[in-house]
Amino acid sequence: MNLTLRVWRQKNSGSSGGFVEYQADDISPDMSFLEMLDVVNEGLIKRGEDPVAFDHDCREGICGTCGMIINGIAHGPLGATTTCQLHMRHFKDGQVIAIEPWRARTFPVIKDLVVDRGAFDRVIQAGGYISTRTGGTPDGNTIPIPKPESDLAMDAAACIGCGACVAACKNASAMLFVAAKVSHLNILPQGKPEKDRRVLNMVRAMDEEGFGNCTVMGSCEAVCPKEISLDFISRMNRDYLRALGRSK
Ligand code: SF4
Ligand code: FES
Repeated sequence: MNLTLRVWRQKNSGSSGGFVEYQADDISPDMSFLEMLDVVNEGLIKRGEDPVAFDHDCREGICGTCGMIINGIAHGPLGATTTCQLHMRHFKDGQVIAIEPWRARTFPVIKDLVVDRGAFDRVIQAGGYISTRTGGTPDGNTIPIPKPESDLAMDAAACIGCGACVAACKNASAMLFVAAKVSHLNILPQGKPEKDRRVLNMVRAMDEEGFGNCTVMGSCEAVCPKEISLDFISRMNRDYLRALGRSK
């Protein structure tokens, strides 16, 4: 396949960026999107030019680092798929592909396609943990958890913190991410003692970071590579209101 890429290049957070056009020739349809970018970067390095900076780690859809906007869609055109798991066979030979970093004030560009998602880390630090000493790994049946609850907690825990939900939202809201992180602990018996404190602190941290409000447009759910459901936002809102009432 031969492709034309329009890639956002930006030296650092202080400089203004712009699109630069590159040819990606002889690309195998079986390559992942990141492997295609690797090929482009090899060419740039050979020519003595600065390679395109992009985030990646696991390349298996589990670490959440590899997000970028591909032709206007967070993580590209294939639903429920991270950029690293997107393959070039989903594009057409000769296609023009625009590649941009996440666009949100809370995710400033570090370089090219790499953004600073430290705001997510700070939200997690505000309550995304269980603070009791748990010792070694307990036997699986020591604390019986009803199957519907363990399944629901597992669905929430699937969030990989990629930030696509924020990037896709017209308000740059982080509600889907925060709701997933609050819920996966609040649903389980181990997380319940700190349930109220967790939801109040994490929502406060989210607001302090400057994420926008949720107006339930559903763009977050549509681009989420782990198919986190909007239902978790309703669940977090319920937890939040109850916690607020109890804190008075
Ligand atoms: S909710 Fe989905 S889109 Fe948002 S950070 Fe988690 S995995 Fe990514
Ligand atoms: S590189 Fe880890 S999810 Fe894509």
